[in-house]
Amino acid sequence: MPTSALVFPPAVDMDVLVSSAQIAERVAELGREISKDYQGQSTGHPLVLIGVLKGAAIFLSDLARAIQIDNTFDFVAVSSYGRARVSSGAVKLIKDIDNPIEGRHVILVEDILDTGLTLSYLRGLMLQHKPASLKIATCLDKPERRLVPIEADYVGFKIPNRFVIGYGMDYAEVYRNVPDIRIFPNDAGH
Ligand code: IMP
Ligand code: MG
Repeated sequence: MPTSALVFPPAVDMDVLVSSAQIAERVAELGREISKDYQGQSTGHPLVLIGVLKGAAIFLSDLARAIQIDNTFDFVAVSSYGRARVSSGAVKLIKDIDNPIEGRHVILVEDILDTGLTLSYLRGLMLQHKPASLKIATCLDKPERRLVPIEADYVGFKIPNRFVIGYGMDYAEVYRNVPDIRIFPNDAGH
């Protein structure tokens, strides 16, 4: 569908599901929890955060600073399977990690855990690199939508089955900059 056919209502008119203040508070908590969990777990190298572009970029940048132990970050990108969300075969790696993660403690950082197809694919891929450990942090979790069994180790907020935008999350690439997480009207993205 050409972008011109899409409608982009103003984000300020959309209902807030999670406010920027709630996000900040929760990210700080997750940062403390992760710091505690990885304290003394050193492999001689810093913890690696791997963000899934582009949605997780904002969550990762906040989380990285909320974690009180040294960390580095890298990014992967996967193909979007759009609105069809058909099969796991539809998930494809577009950009791989830049630096080796063998023997490192790694956390995959995602914006939303929805059907689980993306993260189960990425988890399998990252495990092939033989990290010392691999965990998952997601800003949002929509447990109702799961098609494959996968859970995150660190969850910002469990949310109902609504299409949301903001805090890195988009509708057709728009609204990633919105500071609050808001509900896109009429579930138009699903
Ligand atoms: P899944 O878990 O493989 O279904 O994929 C999750 C991905 O779908 C996320 O990384 C988002 O990019 C996208 N996604 C799922 N739900 C939403 C939503 O409500 N708003 C924006 N993107 C979403
Ligand atoms: Mg995404």
